[in-house]
Amino acid sequence: MNEGRVTVGPIASRRGSPGWLHFRRFLAHPIRLAAVTSSSGRLSRLVAEQVRPVDDGVVLELGAGTGAVTRALLAAGVPAVKLIAVEIDQEMAQFLRAAYPDVAVIEDCALKIGQLLPPTAMGRVGAVICGIPVSLLPFEQQQGLVAGMLSMLPPGRPFLMYTHRLGSPLPARKLGLVGKRLAFTLRNLPPASVWVYSADGNGQEFPAAGPGR
Ligand SMILES: C[S@@+](CC[C@H](N)C(=O)[O-])C[C@H]1O[C@@H](n2cnc3c(N)ncnc32)[C@H](O)[C@@H]1O
Repeated sequence: MNEGRVTVGPIASRRGSPGWLHFRRFLAHPIRLAAVTSSSGRLSRLVAEQVRPVDDGVVLELGAGTGAVTRALLAAGVPAVKLIAVEIDQEMAQFLRAAYPDVAVIEDCALKIGQLLPPTAMGRVGAVICGIPVSLLPFEQQQGLVAGMLSMLPPGRPFLMYTHRLGSPLPARKLGLVGKRLAFTLRNLPPASVWVYSADGNGQEFPAAGPGR
């Protein structure tokens, strides 16, 4: 199985490791990454087990970083050819392409999500997962991102987020959303939660909560 390393050998392996890359990019862009380390295996699995794409549709991962959640999604059975990862950081996008050659990696800002997908994926998105630190974005950008994510999905479908925030990473009511924490884990630095959001008033059922701890 591909473990997300792109080089081998004692020094090259550490320098080419996802953890080292994440740490270096965190130093360059602390607000954009918002965490010193990449998502833990535990958090990544908690996210992946909540993903139930509609009609076997495409899974869209925003802010894929060095691919911890990407790897968990693949391990959970999402076919690589049905996974699209959006990542703003050039080095991380290059890393993702090398580590997961069958995953479509889009190096761009997810705030433009409406303009980024290849025509073949339009209307075929079955699940959206957002790992971007949305709580640090201005309200107008949160609004734009939420509108973009909902517009990708079939009407009424929720999107997923993971966060280090103690509470909701989005001001749900102000954004016309209902949100629910599905899982929490201490086994991440810092501890993290998985949230699901849906446009309010649509009567959409949330997926059942996973066994987070
Ligand atoms: C908390 S990290 C996600 C970590 C990822 N799960 C991992 O383990 O590597 C957030 C990621 O979102 C990316 N990001 C932040 N703002 C973004 C944006 N506007 N568009 C796309 N990616 C963005 C960052 O570069 C970073 O890789």
